Amino acid sequence: MNPMNETNTRLNTTRSRLHKEEEGTQDIDCGIIPEQIHISITRSSSEMVVMWLTRKITNDPVCKYFLVKPLNPAEDDNEIIDTTENITRATSNVVTIGQWQATIYSVTLVNLRPYTMYSYKVGDMETGVYSNTYSFSSRHYGGHPFTMVTFADFTVTEEVKNKKQAIKRLVQNLSQFDIILEFGDICYADGDQEVWDKFFNHVQPIAACKPWMVTVGNHENEGEFGFKAFENRFKMPGNNNFWYSFNYGYAHILVISTEHDLSEDSPQHQFIVSDLEKANKFREKVPWIILTGHRAIIGSNKRYFQKPKCEKQRKILTPIIDKYGVDIALFGHCHAYERTHPIYNGEIDPRGTVYLLAGVAGAQLDKEWQIQPQWSAYRTAHHGYGLLHVKSRKKLRFCYHREKDRKMWDSFTLTKRKNDSPNDNVIKKKISYDYENKFLKNWITTGSDTDNHSTEEECYRSKLETNRPFELSLAESNNSQ
Ligand SMILES: [Fe+2]
Repeated sequence: MNPMNETNTRLNTTRSRLHKEEEGTQDIDCGIIPEQIHISITRSSSEMVVMWLTRKITNDPVCKYFLVKPLNPAEDDNEIIDTTENITRATSNVVTIGQWQATIYSVTLVNLRPYTMYSYKVGDMETGVYSNTYSFSSRHYGGHPFTMVTFADFTVTEEVKNKKQAIKRLVQNLSQFDIILEFGDICYADGDQEVWDKFFNHVQPIAACKPWMVTVGNHENEGEFGFKAFENRFKMPGNNNFWYSFNYGYAHILVISTEHDLSEDSPQHQFIVSDLEKANKFREKVPWIILTGHRAIIGSNKRYFQKPKCEKQRKILTPIIDKYGVDIALFGHCHAYERTHPIYNGEIDPRGTVYLLAGVAGAQLDKEWQIQPQWSAYRTAHHGYGLLHVKSRKKLRFCYHREKDRKMWDSFTLTKRKNDSPNDNVIKKKISYDYENKFLKNWITTGSDTDNHSTEEECYRSKLETNRPFELSLAESNNSQ
């Protein structure tokens, strides 16, 4: 039998076996049906965390999973692959927040084969009540290209009310990306746990299949409940959900909390410095360093950037970002999109960091701008999301995809150059911009609305396009100040 047909037959057989278990769920107590299923990665490439929730506690919570097929085309077809069902017991945690109570389950699947499709369902062995079956791809071992969806400031209410289709679009394009990074103000629950519930069920078609990684925002600090929901509803790879890091493909991703102390003697500050020290030692293998937090520190929107808190965090963070040669810094909080030219020591410089503001996932937009500084390369206030494509050790591409017309509105490529000096850990980069839609050639954008660009944006975009290709070299940067 053709190996693909064999795999499909095996999958169908197992699906019907799982469905039989699901058939018995017609008259069951709704309180024990698993919901809000989402996955996240750990620091190990061979693991995946699965989390879900039930309204009433169940006694024997498990994740049942099985290998569907290796995804590496070079895989040896003759290798005997174990596709039998595995069962891993979950831990359960009864969480009470105000009047709201539920049981949150968490399980870490271990010893996964690299780059392999697995299917799984979660539920309870005692009652026999299980979720539908979902699939995820396990991680590659070592360096590899990848695509990450990036955004912040997402509101379920606005998305549903305005019939925005960002989540639908991402579901349509599940095969086009590997991981999601949402950097704060995750759903604007602000203490209302039902909003969290709505959010997780809304994003479940994506979050059950792609690791959903998060950064804490100010709206995750829910008054009298503090960060309790954020701490219990996610499991990020670190000692806490607030500051942690992980390697993914050719990138090291450092997540920080702008909602906790960042001052020099704080535990978080020590973690950030020590993490970047270590990341730089492995830069040959994992060359890209991406830092993400919630409150943006550089931008030209009228909201927020001149506030004392922003200035304080900028003064603390930018010298660290410069010193350790962070390539991309991703932030939200301000509800607009802005990309800077590479900035080093406060000036445009190809050694520097590209600061990206992408707080455009759904919250009310901040449309007021200051006069555009020279370091501000592109800015707009429309809902959308970013796609970060780490193509290789040398090449990284980012684009901003606007939801209004489902088109790419900003895009740039960073190309690393060799160090001038082996002792210089700040690698010089070439930055170029283009608007060719090669990267998104397979991105599904069906059902697009009538294009309705604003005149101002049309002008700005055409100005950039006239200037392309744009390349920034050290000499140019010296002249540009
Ligand atoms: Fe915020």
